Amino acid sequence: ALALLSDGPLKGKKALVTAGPTLEAIDPVRFISNRSSGKQGYAIAAALAELGAEVTLVSGPTNLAVPQGVKRIAVESAEEMLAASEAALPLDVAVMVAAVADWRPAQAADEKIKKDKAGIPAISLVETPDILATLAKGKKRPKLVVGFAAETENLEAHARAKIAKKGCDWIIANDVSGDVMGGAENEVLLITKDSAETWPRMAKEAVARKLAEKIAAELGAKPRQ
Ligand code: CTP
Ligand code: CA
Repeated sequence: ALALLSDGPLKGKKALVTAGPTLEAIDPVRFISNRSSGKQGYAIAAALAELGAEVTLVSGPTNLAVPQGVKRIAVESAEEMLAASEAALPLDVAVMVAAVADWRPAQAADEKIKKDKAGIPAISLVETPDILATLAKGKKRPKLVVGFAAETENLEAHARAKIAKKGCDWIIANDVSGDVMGGAENEVLLITKDSAETWPRMAKEAVARKLAEKIAAELGAKPRQ
């Protein structure tokens, strides 16, 4: 099977997928995080590997097994996720599926914060690095940069604004107002700079395969220079 896999349309292509949540420490026993099962990102990593790509999966904590043929790098914070993602450069394609925490506590306390000390602690937050924008605007930009946008309203308009703001090529927009988070299926819009496609609701694995095929077609059209 391996010989067959390495003959796929993404043979010789290097791919990065970020997946899962990030954890941002408050103290040694507490953190803030996002809701994310990691399912969609892991399915995309698996689908890219099935088409022959060399896949690095930079993942926050999940309960999922490493897909076959994929190299997983386990991280916790957004800063660790950025460092591991930059270490994977140069890349043909980067697909940023992680639910990165937008803010982290300005300082993680070295010792556990005790309840009886000074009343209820105020946690001041600072912004985390934007991994997608950093890669998309960086010197060694991957040839194709794909982001995700989880929205609860105005899907296409918000997603289009994210393409512009982050400098990525495509955005997969999903409406998370229903039962998509943690669920088995996804309903998405694929948005490029000049087009939008609505995909029917389907299993996350099917979304992943369809996206991997699109990526293969796009990279086939743009050989590495
Ligand atoms: N992303 C990232 N690093 C961050 C925040 C987001 O790489 N610090 C990536 C996500 O993996 C996703 C895309 O950016 O591919 C969009 O994430 P989203 O949370 O929808 O967008 P934000 O720019 O954070 O805007 P907001 O949460 O305010 O909608
Ligand atoms: Ca966000």
